[in-house]
Amino acid sequence: MEVILSPTIPSVKTLSPSFSSTSSSCSFNQNFSLNLSSAIRNTSSVKKRTTSSPIWRRNRSQHQNSLSVRISATSESAPSSMETTVASSKIPSKMKAWVYEEYGDPSVLRLGEEVSVPAVKEDQVLVKVIAAALNPIDFKRRQGKFKATDSPLPTVPGYDVAGVVVKVGSLVKNLKEGDEVYGDINEKALENPKQFGSLAEYTAVEEKLLAIKPKNLNFAEAAGLPLAIETASEGLEKAGFSAGKSVLVLGGAGGVGSLVIQVAKHVFGASRVAATSSTGKLELLKSLGADLAVDYTKENFEDLSEKFDVVYDAVGQAEKAVNAVKGGGSVVVLTGPVSPPGFRFVVTSDGAALAKLNPYLESGKIKPLVDPKGTFEFSKLVEAFTYLETGRATGKVVMYPIP
Ligand SMILES: NC(=O)c1ccc[n+]([C@@H]2O[C@H](COP(=O)([O-])OP(=O)(O)OC[C@H]3O[C@@H](n4cnc5c(N)ncnc54)[C@H](OP(=O)(O)O)[C@@H]3O)[C@@H](O)[C@H]2O)c1
Repeated sequence: MEVILSPTIPSVKTLSPSFSSTSSSCSFNQNFSLNLSSAIRNTSSVKKRTTSSPIWRRNRSQHQNSLSVRISATSESAPSSMETTVASSKIPSKMKAWVYEEYGDPSVLRLGEEVSVPAVKEDQVLVKVIAAALNPIDFKRRQGKFKATDSPLPTVPGYDVAGVVVKVGSLVKNLKEGDEVYGDINEKALENPKQFGSLAEYTAVEEKLLAIKPKNLNFAEAAGLPLAIETASEGLEKAGFSAGKSVLVLGGAGGVGSLVIQVAKHVFGASRVAATSSTGKLELLKSLGADLAVDYTKENFEDLSEKFDVVYDAVGQAEKAVNAVKGGGSVVVLTGPVSPPGFRFVVTSDGAALAKLNPYLESGKIKPLVDPKGTFEFSKLVEAFTYLETGRATGKVVMYPIP
């Protein structure tokens, strides 16, 4: 099968999917990697501020890195996979982290050199961040759309993380130093999300929000999963989706949509999956498991003769979506206005939910999709957000490596 990507993805011209039985990845050429690969109120690590007192200082040239971090490639099939050793006694008090002190466009982001490493509460672990993924909520939050329920500025952004546990709180039961973990660090995405997020060298996270990283995935692949796959899974569950039902996914090539297709098919046992994208991404939708790929630039999904048990709207098209659902069916809406029978929900981060999905990831049934541009270096966060904010990303935009 040959897949031609749209010219809107300049780095990729032709995609030739090649599935490997030995590795967890299916790669499209060299640039496109489709690999067989969700928040809590932060009452702990950060004392609430009413003023923006400096947790970080700009213009410090030298980061005092007293860490002992050893990084080495361990797997040919997962080239970014690494072995990281951090001695807990060597955890510094300051770290590099992206910070913004005011709401606005990507230009408000600054790379702080001496941001305080967050304190660890009893039920939390400190994670040495190896990779972190971006989500639209990161930029919507940065734009000030959730001011009313946001934690105080300044903010270290970032929800998704993959990394290594370097310290555990006194009430932590199952995780230990050295565990490779992944998760969405905010249990309730919009309710006082953490002031110290994952776009940093270290982040403090409740144990219950994390799961052990799937063995076959590297950190970059794993980092792209938590918020998106938890949203995919929770949405289908809330819609009452089950084996034998059909679903139409609006926005099938995005971070969430690409996982809704796969979770519906492989976890819930969908009888039929349809999804929408622009022309250049139709083959990708099919490779993810879609039975029908609808080109929204040429076709109106409301005009399809078939109707669906569930319409999963990851675009913000709820008004149209209700016209594509069967009588008695459900319309899951992630963003924008919603009208009956549509319902909107906000994802809840849950490490146990991730752990339940691990077998599907480890067997290669569900594959993480990292954007064909590849991972962005930690220093390139402004560029990465600018790209994500075009709304044209394919799968996940991931920052890797984090120093
Ligand atoms: N409520 C919640 O808990 C929750 C959780 C996660 C996300 N969200 C929200 O859900 C939305 C999607 O999140 P995401 O992470 O999937 O975003 P994303 O990865 O940035 O989505 C980008 C994708 O959207 C596709 N797209 C854009 N317009 C489209 C259209 N008219 N029809 C079909 N596809 C279209 C693009 O494909 P083309 O290039 O082909 O257009 C692109 O691949 C965001 O608004 C996000 O804030 C809400």
